[in-house]
Amino acid sequence: MGHWRTLLFLRAFVSFGPRNRAIGAAAKSQVVTNCKNTVQGFKRFHGRAFTDPYVQSAKPGLVYDLAQMPSGTTGIKVMYMEEEKVFSIEQVTAMLLTKLKETAEAALKKPVADCVISVPSFFTDAERRSVMDAAQIAGLNCLRLMNDTTAVALAYGIYKQDLPAPEEKPRTVVFVDVGHAGYQVSACAFNKGKLKILASAFDPELGGKDFDEMLVKHFCDVFSKKYKLDVRSKPRALVRLYQECEKLKKLMSANASDLPLNIECFMNDIDVSSKLNRGEFEEMCAGLLGRVEAPLRSVMEQAKLKKEDIYAVEIIGGASRIPAIKEHVSRFFGKELSTTLNADEAVARGCALLSGKCDCEVFTKNHPAPFSKVLTFYRKEPFSLEAYYNNQKDLPYPDPNIGQFFIQKVTPQASGESSKVKVKVRVSVHGIFSVSSASLVEVLKPSEGEEPMETDTADGQKENTDKKSDTEEMEVTASDVTCTDTLRYLDQKNSNHLHSLLWTSTEENKEKEKRPDQPPQAKKAKVKTKTVDLPIENSLHWQLANDMLNLFVENEGKMIMQDKLEKERNDAKNGVEEYVYEMREKLHGALEKFVSEEDRDAFALKLEDVENWLYEEGEDQQKQVYIDKLSELKKLGQPIQERALEAEERPKAFDELGKQIQQYMKILEAYKDELYDHLDELEVMKVEKQVNDGMNWMNSKMNEQMKRSLTQEPVVKVREIQAKTKEVYSACNPTLSKPKPKVEPPKEEKEPEQNGPVNGQEKSEAQPCSPEEGKDLSAPESAEAKLSEMDID
Ligand SMILES: *[C@@H]1O[C@H](CO)[C@@H](O)[C@H](O)[C@H]1NC(C)=O
Ligand SMILES: *[C@@H]1O[C@H](CO)[C@@H](O)[C@H](O)[C@H]1NC(C)=O
Repeated sequence: MGHWRTLLFLRAFVSFGPRNRAIGAAAKSQVVTNCKNTVQGFKRFHGRAFTDPYVQSAKPGLVYDLAQMPSGTTGIKVMYMEEEKVFSIEQVTAMLLTKLKETAEAALKKPVADCVISVPSFFTDAERRSVMDAAQIAGLNCLRLMNDTTAVALAYGIYKQDLPAPEEKPRTVVFVDVGHAGYQVSACAFNKGKLKILASAFDPELGGKDFDEMLVKHFCDVFSKKYKLDVRSKPRALVRLYQECEKLKKLMSANASDLPLNIECFMNDIDVSSKLNRGEFEEMCAGLLGRVEAPLRSVMEQAKLKKEDIYAVEIIGGASRIPAIKEHVSRFFGKELSTTLNADEAVARGCALLSGKCDCEVFTKNHPAPFSKVLTFYRKEPFSLEAYYNNQKDLPYPDPNIGQFFIQKVTPQASGESSKVKVKVRVSVHGIFSVSSASLVEVLKPSEGEEPMETDTADGQKENTDKKSDTEEMEVTASDVTCTDTLRYLDQKNSNHLHSLLWTSTEENKEKEKRPDQPPQAKKAKVKTKTVDLPIENSLHWQLANDMLNLFVENEGKMIMQDKLEKERNDAKNGVEEYVYEMREKLHGALEKFVSEEDRDAFALKLEDVENWLYEEGEDQQKQVYIDKLSELKKLGQPIQERALEAEERPKAFDELGKQIQQYMKILEAYKDELYDHLDELEVMKVEKQVNDGMNWMNSKMNEQMKRSLTQEPVVKVREIQAKTKEVYSACNPTLSKPKPKVEPPKEEKEPEQNGPVNGQEKSEAQPCSPEEGKDLSAPESAEAKLSEMDID
């Protein structure tokens, strides 16, 4: 744990350039300047064919181009690295995930491998698998694809401190999420540490973007009449109109009066202006607003809730700020709305919470997914299962098919009877359907003397890997099977569950075989059997082929590398540019007195040359060229900066040396005092010489330096002065800090005299320390006190 982070879909931007990609805020800033190559609002293209009605209807509103992938799915067409490129939606989302991953890694200062991604609850299998593929392309292990509604409910549940105790009546909360690209409603029951999603409903065609679309359409019409402009023919103008409409929409939420919409130099050098007020806006959006109620009613009906059962209605999502939406929801429930949760944040928190172990439990306990079911078939030949969505009417996706699953290598029993085939179907934690395993139960002839027994080994092992509790068995007998039969394999209580399964058998279609009254094996209580795993061939709707996925993974790696190289190149270039500006400013400021006029002029000229170069052939060079250019400049700049630094540090260094010398001189002066009479005379003389030498050295260096111009190399470097300080210290300190041997103090001298020792013991305990660290010299306090008195220049 710990090595993972929440990643989620925000309204993200990815921008493509001649040398790199920009993702997030950096891409958003290019939405007008690089509009054809800046991609946004692509979430809903996941897992959809290019010919999908949704894709086709969204296309005219986009300023970037969509294109068909070789597989038939939706891709985007952009100019990248000066070439026209088509990227699959999985790749584009992977780019976004890559960026989020890098951001998380930078914040956590460690690699991130796992993530949780939230998706609209109305995402179907193909859309979910497509998002999972995107995570894989970005090198992320998606622990869970979570419904947005679940993520929001989790966030609410965990952060509310006052929920009813587990045994009490749960608190029912309705969440109304009006996002940019969809409308989701859920009803949830909360107890402390327990969350149950009672019902959910949605309208994918109702979101902030649909309101923007209305505004854009309105102003396109206005400008067409008023200025004879065809806005949609100019992507750049269209993008600007979208931006202004979004702003206007926000303003209208706060202000009901007439509000202006002005765009300068909009198209063909024409400035445009118009106005709108909230009333007019609501009128043109009446159709959209009329759709607010249906999902609310659906949730109440599914969960059999009465309005008085609802504790609170929480409204979230950017578009929930539109007053008319709030009014509709509030009127429906006859209740004031709560706005405790900010949508993006709420979803992020809900996902993040999954990391805690207990939250996982809360989640699975009351949740329909993951869920498995073992189906038993009696077959003589390979057969296929077809999974599809049952309730196509409510499906926000044009194709109900999920996929086909071919159960291979099915053979009749030795007796010629049908074999028992167990097929396990599963909805994963991500809400994705699969046929996870199939096995054939082979009946073995009991041999003499051997006690026959049931050995369901292979199957038994499988069962252990799944949680027993989420697996249910059901037997499918041949008579159940017709081509049109469907089976809801999930709990009937989850009436909003979308998946269904249809199975067909090649055998059944050919010969109408009479089914035995009972499966043959079931008659005998104890039969020796062997379970053989059967291969399954999947053909999933819009499944990304493995080799394609691998290619995308590889390409993402290359693009990451390219972005990294480009960043380094840019950093190197910026390094040169910054140096030029910094130096130019300082040459006439802080560094001025440290450079001769002649050198300064030469350097300034050089800086100007380089600046010009940066705008000309230096505009676009390899990283190394910039690195070399910088060191060329530094050759001139460095000595000046060093002189300035020396001049700044020098007084301090001299000061330290001076203090040290003065201190020792004080002690030497006091040598005659009783206090130091334990010191050896010879040694003291040596010290005296050292101190005098040091003093002379310092005085002569200071004098010479004073005579030298600041524009020249200094006489003495700070480093040398510090070395001298150390030298004096090492030569003098051992001698002068020798403790005075302990003697019985004469009675009448109980109180130490002014210059006397405070305490011989203490003195011997004091450790000499290096001069830089302070003036702790084991010198008597009084001496030190005296020193500080005279320590003024
Ligand atoms: C997600 O939402 C859908 C639609 O409301 C629901 O059928 C499904 O059970 C939910 N899945 C998960 C994993 O929460
Ligand atoms: C609403 O907008 C109008 C026009 O810009 C402005 O004059 C007015 O002060 C605004 N009202 C409020 C309450 O902000």
